[in-house]
Amino acid sequence: MVKMTTEAQFSNNDFQDVVLHRQSVRKFDPTVKIELAELQAMIDEATSAPSACNLQSWHFVVAASDAGKAKAKQLLMPFNYPQVETCSVMIFILGDTESHLVYRDVWNKACEDGRISAEKRDQIFKTFLPLYENASPAFLKMDATIDSSMAAMQLLLVARAHGYDANPIAGYAADKVAVTFDLDPQRYVPVMAVAIGKAAAEPITTTRYAGTEVTEFI
Ligand SMILES: Cc1cc2nc3c(=O)[nH]c(=O)nc-3n(C[C@H](O)[C@H](O)[C@H](O)COP(=O)(O)O)c2cc1C
Repeated sequence: MVKMTTEAQFSNNDFQDVVLHRQSVRKFDPTVKIELAELQAMIDEATSAPSACNLQSWHFVVAASDAGKAKAKQLLMPFNYPQVETCSVMIFILGDTESHLVYRDVWNKACEDGRISAEKRDQIFKTFLPLYENASPAFLKMDATIDSSMAAMQLLLVARAHGYDANPIAGYAADKVAVTFDLDPQRYVPVMAVAIGKAAAEPITTTRYAGTEVTEFI
């Protein structure tokens, strides 16, 4: 269950291009299909994202089939229909508020592999587990939302590294996401959907506030 980062085969390994030329693409070439193995690799790469205490509180629902995309479309606000109708895949990222229940496995594996000592593992359990085992639902939801946001951003960039483009989407019926995918809505919180495919139209070039307007040095 625990994967260490492997060497990914990126078709675009130009960091500057991947990061600084990313733009939200909302119209894709509908004929482009992405193999499930490549989708899984992209998700594996996205989960190299950091997470609080390495809890990895994320869960991915991949709508690549016509039936999956039809389900996804039911959730979307109409202004997001063009993306789901043309993308190769729409991936929903949900936060898992129960990730701490399997947290021991991650560090037990690290210990078995000889990457950390038993003392270090026990110290991690003692320091971090009570934070989560005694946490409020609001805290668990916030933590899972932040972790999943990190993975979502990573997925946007990984998609570009694989030669695709993407659009992050939160314009959907958030209260219906988990149940639509037969997931427990108490456990899983919707964070983001990411439409991925080959761009079929030039995206709008967006601008940002000057860094100086949103920065203070203290
Ligand atoms: C939390 C979040 C929600 C978003 N929801 C949508 C959405 O529902 N539909 C959409 O077309 N774009 C959505 N976007 C994309 C933004 O509109 C886009 O990132 C922003 O306009 C900047 O453009 P850029 O991504 O091309 O740099 C969302 C982005 C974020 C971060």
